Amino acid sequence: MTRHAPAIAVLCSGQGTNLQAILDAARRGRLTARVALVLSDRPGAKALERARRAGVAAYDVDPKGYPTKAAYERELIRLCEAAGVRFICLAGFMRVLSPVFVHRFRSRILNIHPALLPAFPGTHGARDALAWGVKVTGVTVHLVDEHVDHGPILLQEATPIAPNDTEATLLAKLHRIEHRLYPRAIQWMVDGKVRVRGRTVRVVR
Ligand code: GRF
Repeated sequence: MTRHAPAIAVLCSGQGTNLQAILDAARRGRLTARVALVLSDRPGAKALERARRAGVAAYDVDPKGYPTKAAYERELIRLCEAAGVRFICLAGFMRVLSPVFVHRFRSRILNIHPALLPAFPGTHGARDALAWGVKVTGVTVHLVDEHVDHGPILLQEATPIAPNDTEATLLAKLHRIEHRLYPRAIQWMVDGKVRVRGRTVRVVR
């Protein structure tokens, strides 16, 4: 990875296994981006620990410390801009970003979701797929727009649901897929290979 690799910020709320996959991909040169910043809205998030262990600047920005959502997001934007961030990757960030934030980084925010969108948006993609009884689910990486789990889709991968799958076993399968897919999608963005037209995304080779 060169010093000129574009800087990315990863926003997390929890375990940060996707953050770890991104950090590992960057370390191994499979992703030519530099994780410059990790932000969490939860002080105890394991993701922060993973970032610090990797020598990445990591801050818990607790919304409780801000009078309004707008003030909170202004701080997130300030930190991202100060770090020279080009792309923002949401990886289990349990907060809906406002249109102001989305416009600030238009077409430069990615999200990963544990279901085949537009099916099963929201917090419990795997649980909802199991409850519905679908036989196939998967992972989606998409660009973030003003609506939740809604923006143009970059990449999806399907996996069958086995009759004996529980939420835990299904999540484990989905995580393995996520850890492969997310760095790949980020690399497409870094390489400028993604063309967006309305809802349609074309990846130029
Ligand atoms: C992932 O399943 C992702 O799809 C969803 O939140 C989860 C985050 O997991 N948006 P982790 O914190 O990366 O382990």
